[in-house]
Amino acid sequence: MSATDATASTAHLQELAHRHLWMHFTPMGAYSAERRVPIIVRGDGCYVWDAEGKRYLDGLSALYCVNIGHGRHDVAMAGADQARDLAFFPAWSFAHEPAVRLAERIASLAPGDLNRIFFTGGGGEAVESAIKLARQYHKLTGSPSRTKIIAREGAYHGTTLGALTATGLNSMRTPFEPFAAGGCHVPNTLLYRRPEDFDPADLAEAVARKIAFEGPETVAAVIVEPVQNSGGSIPPPDGYFERLREICDDTGVLLISDEVICSWGRLGTWFGAQRYDYQPDIITTAKGITSAYAPMGAMIASDRLFEPFAEAPNVFLHGFTFAGHPVASAVAMANIDVMEREGLLEHVRANEGAFADMLRSLSDIPVVGDVRGDGYFYSIEVVKDQATAERFTADEIARDVRGALAADLYAGGLMCRVDLRTGDPVIALAPPLIAGPEQFDEMHAILRPALSALADRVA
Ligand SMILES: Cc1ncc(COP(=O)(O)O)c(C=O)c1O
Repeated sequence: MSATDATASTAHLQELAHRHLWMHFTPMGAYSAERRVPIIVRGDGCYVWDAEGKRYLDGLSALYCVNIGHGRHDVAMAGADQARDLAFFPAWSFAHEPAVRLAERIASLAPGDLNRIFFTGGGGEAVESAIKLARQYHKLTGSPSRTKIIAREGAYHGTTLGALTATGLNSMRTPFEPFAAGGCHVPNTLLYRRPEDFDPADLAEAVARKIAFEGPETVAAVIVEPVQNSGGSIPPPDGYFERLREICDDTGVLLISDEVICSWGRLGTWFGAQRYDYQPDIITTAKGITSAYAPMGAMIASDRLFEPFAEAPNVFLHGFTFAGHPVASAVAMANIDVMEREGLLEHVRANEGAFADMLRSLSDIPVVGDVRGDGYFYSIEVVKDQATAERFTADEIARDVRGALAADLYAGGLMCRVDLRTGDPVIALAPPLIAGPEQFDEMHAILRPALSALADRVA
């Protein structure tokens, strides 16, 4: 294809995308003949290329997904080989070897007695499954009034109506109200901007107070991420999860660890709960389970939660056609093989300090307010004035942050996320787990001028 043909075909694709592809969470009206839909055509390692041939450092692992990096033929071939043998059979009443072997492997890696793997198509379906399991479990074990779900403010748990009940972002909730009853929220663990005398231990106590306020006999579960993504990679304070486990045990409330992002090496451990040493009753996962070489998610439940369902005629009346898809299961096995063979968890633990140091080295720029996270999961909160943590005005956010800063990072060749979901802007960074000092240097070389330009603009 000549260069002219290639340009014409890219323009044609962009035109078709504009006309027919309803992109998710995307203001479709923002695209026009002048501002065209970006088309990504190829990936290799930590990099992706657009249709114009421009290379980008994928600083977000394509939405926290491509943990082993792009372009792994061995993982792709595992899917192709499986499709040739058995492309599909449901995991309803029948089993097939790829799903059985994957379930056994996940159980062997998950903490404690989390041995029951209920596959889903993605993260929202996993959260939906966890909420429904928590409710039905309580019904079967004599606590039918336990229906409420406690989640944290600002947390994102998915967009299906049940998962949205847990999601604590008002802007995403209000357009779809009313939805499933029983979602209530407690403060998240963000310490930035808290008064000096604030005691982080109070954050777990807030959960205890909420359970007491709602009435423990009405609360089914608490759902939390190990590190909360929305709001900017918010890690837990010391002792938070230990206390949360105690509170849940004391009140008969289930602890759901939503690890759609925080599992499969993102924090240098198989599961986020292992990083902070707590034992959930349920883990929800997706994304890195296959490094997104095929779509898949899972709810991983404890033996205790499974127990009532082991008795006839009880059944968890819930499922999805594509859950445990043989191709996705084979891909997940190959993905976990890569992580083990190439020591990616060890690699993250060895390099996360250098990643954090690189980001913290930007703190001399006056708009760098807070740098936080763990593992390969960090955010920079940008502020108008570092010394006072003063917020940008709405105009500055629209023009200088969502506009110019995001454009500068993209033009510089860094895929990352300027996330404004909680109102306070953060630059979210979560590179593939194979990234190392070379990619950190590259990120720094793009972040520094973009942040400095923002500082100049709002000075
Ligand atoms: C913590 C968390 N839970 C649930 C979801 C929903 O996952 P999905 O988009 O696969 O439905 C996400 C998506 O990013 C997430 O980050």
